[in-house]
Amino acid sequence: MSRTAIRGGLVVTASDEVHADVLIEDGRIAALAAPGTSAAGAWTADRTLDATGRYVLPGGVDAHTHMEMPFGGTRSSDTFGTGTRAAAWGGTTTIVDFAVQTVGSTLREGLDAWHAKAESNCAIDYGFHMIVSDVNGGTLREMDRLIEEGVTSFKQFMAYPGVFYSDDGRILRAMQRAAANGGLIMMHAENGIAIDVLVEQALARGETDPRFHGEVRKELLEAEATHRAIRLAEVAGAPLYVVHVSAAKAVAELARARDEGLPVFGETCPQYLFLSTDNLAEPGFEGAKYVCSTPLRPREHQAALWRGLRTDDLQVVSTDHCPFCFTGQKERGRGDFSKIPNGLPGVEHRMDLLHQAVVDGHITRRRWIEIACATPARMFGLYPRKGTVAPGADADVVIYDPRAEQVISAGTHHMNVDYSAYEGRRITGRVETVLSRGVPVVEAGAYVGRAGHGVYLPRGLCQLAG
Ligand code: URP
Ligand code: ZN
Ligand code: ZN
Ligand code: ZN
Repeated sequence: MSRTAIRGGLVVTASDEVHADVLIEDGRIAALAAPGTSAAGAWTADRTLDATGRYVLPGGVDAHTHMEMPFGGTRSSDTFGTGTRAAAWGGTTTIVDFAVQTVGSTLREGLDAWHAKAESNCAIDYGFHMIVSDVNGGTLREMDRLIEEGVTSFKQFMAYPGVFYSDDGRILRAMQRAAANGGLIMMHAENGIAIDVLVEQALARGETDPRFHGEVRKELLEAEATHRAIRLAEVAGAPLYVVHVSAAKAVAELARARDEGLPVFGETCPQYLFLSTDNLAEPGFEGAKYVCSTPLRPREHQAALWRGLRTDDLQVVSTDHCPFCFTGQKERGRGDFSKIPNGLPGVEHRMDLLHQAVVDGHITRRRWIEIACATPARMFGLYPRKGTVAPGADADVVIYDPRAEQVISAGTHHMNVDYSAYEGRRITGRVETVLSRGVPVVEAGAYVGRAGHGVYLPRGLCQLAG
């Protein structure tokens, strides 16, 4: 039996802020005790961590990552090894990554391939969603079996015709299946058929720079697809989770649906909260660093996203971490923005950027933990094992120094990518110590974790849709 005590910190969860000692036994939270009482002799620890003046937080749950994902003719540059290590550096102790079914193969083949990539390589615990690219009788039946194995959420794409795209009929069939088996459909909501027309027309006009990526992927085409996904889910009687929401009009669609009482949820990402089309328009080919889909929007959209996070019209902030190096990967799209691989690095910085949002007054401290830890855990069937600091939960705990200052830079980050989307950004707050199931992963500014410590997490059904 191993026992750790974290003494003197402010424990922050989605629901409470209390000064308490946190007692950990065999990888789980055993108890929270009034400050000082655990030291009085009732509880002996093998190890004591001093959290005076610090926050004691649940480890972050990043429900949207793409490690080693083949995309745009290349592959995202973080492995499960490097990506989960970087996540831990930033206070994230759980990721849910997307296994990919390619057209013509089965869900099983895709899932097995992703298990093989992750197994024995992860520094922190991980689960999988399944990208369903090919809806047919066989894949619909496979969805039932995946749910039994803890893969309880399925991403479909209204974008990327010829790659991941599903038409409305295939989307409706998958949603009907999810309504029957309890699965959660996650939607990439952009009208990809219309976008491809605009891409072709832009390139024909010689509009090849990265900023045109943002211009052709119009707000209206995100809002229209969001609306269509909501109504298809309503027809099917299924809950819906819209991923990487970037546009104000898409938030408005979600807000309207939720006001109608529909079980509709929305996720946004730090890049949409902190970056904008100004970045896409950076001179030279620098804008390629910021090409992702949905695209970055004009700065005005950020206010709608922050408001949505405050009013609970958006519930989750994930990173959509999908890194491609500038050199050799983003550069594939020089002279043709449509060939720039889509995706941004970010798994390391989500907790810090959202703490900065607390400092800046966009969200409260508890809302920070709710959107980054508790709600993603509930949304994807991991609560209360993950997402909170409470007796019985896994001891995935972050000791966070809210007053430390840091500057984000590719020179110091741990992700396997040659640039930072947040280069030079000052952050107040810093992760000091990270425990995963009670085991130190980051301690005193050093990585002390181990590839293979992280285990696969079979997940339950969405705990918010019922
Ligand atoms: O640009 C992005 N978001 N790349 C990752 C794939 C996706 O659509 O989530
Ligand atoms: Zn997507
Ligand atoms: Zn994604
Ligand atoms: Zn701000």
